[in-house]
Amino acid sequence: MKIFLDTANVAEIREVADWGILDGVTTNPSLVSKEGRSFDDILHEIVRIVSGPVSAEVVAEAADEMVEQGVRLAALAPNIVVKIPMTIEGLKALRRLSEKEIATNCTLVFNATQGLLAAKAGASFVSPFLGRLDDIGHNGMDLIGQLVTIFDNYALDTEVLAASIRSPLHVVDAALHGADACTMPFKVLQSIVRHPLTDLGNAAFTRDWQKLTPAQRAAAVVQA
Ligand code: E4P
Repeated sequence: MKIFLDTANVAEIREVADWGILDGVTTNPSLVSKEGRSFDDILHEIVRIVSGPVSAEVVAEAADEMVEQGVRLAALAPNIVVKIPMTIEGLKALRRLSEKEIATNCTLVFNATQGLLAAKAGASFVSPFLGRLDDIGHNGMDLIGQLVTIFDNYALDTEVLAASIRSPLHVVDAALHGADACTMPFKVLQSIVRHPLTDLGNAAFTRDWQKLTPAQRAAAVVQA
């Protein structure tokens, strides 16, 4: 499963890129507005750090304007993926952008039929929003499994991008259900790396190693 960071914060992206496990980035207008900077400047910086897909969302409601914005965003870098909301106008825009061979990510997907329509319109990714479904008492994770099965049944190339991830458990479930990618906030990714038993184990190893004399340590290190 590909790991994407769901943020418009360049420092977070730079940090995770350094971990060597970052496959891509997703942004949305809310995340961009938190940064208080120009969207274009942010995108230019992100694509210099990340070579994988970087989702950039349009902020129009009519298909013509979505396509216009999408074409402009896609021209910023070859790895930009134009994010389009799941509406009728969005479907039209997905089709037109896919005919121009521009990669797209259909966002705000809350049921399997929305995802199927987006895939039929040529979306490269669909983003089911798990956390927001859980928030209203639905099981968001079922949707991932349904989309994976449907795309598989019809050999659709569209990738399932699990989004609105709120906890490490969401990430595990997304992987178990076969999501192609999972986008998560920096905090969730950090909490995945850490485990109290790993920290305890590491501290014990360091303590034990320090009990050795310098000569014993030198003798214990395998010589190249
Ligand atoms: C996905 O692309 C969205 O940016 C994101 O996952 C939304 O998450 P939220 O529901 O936590 O805002």
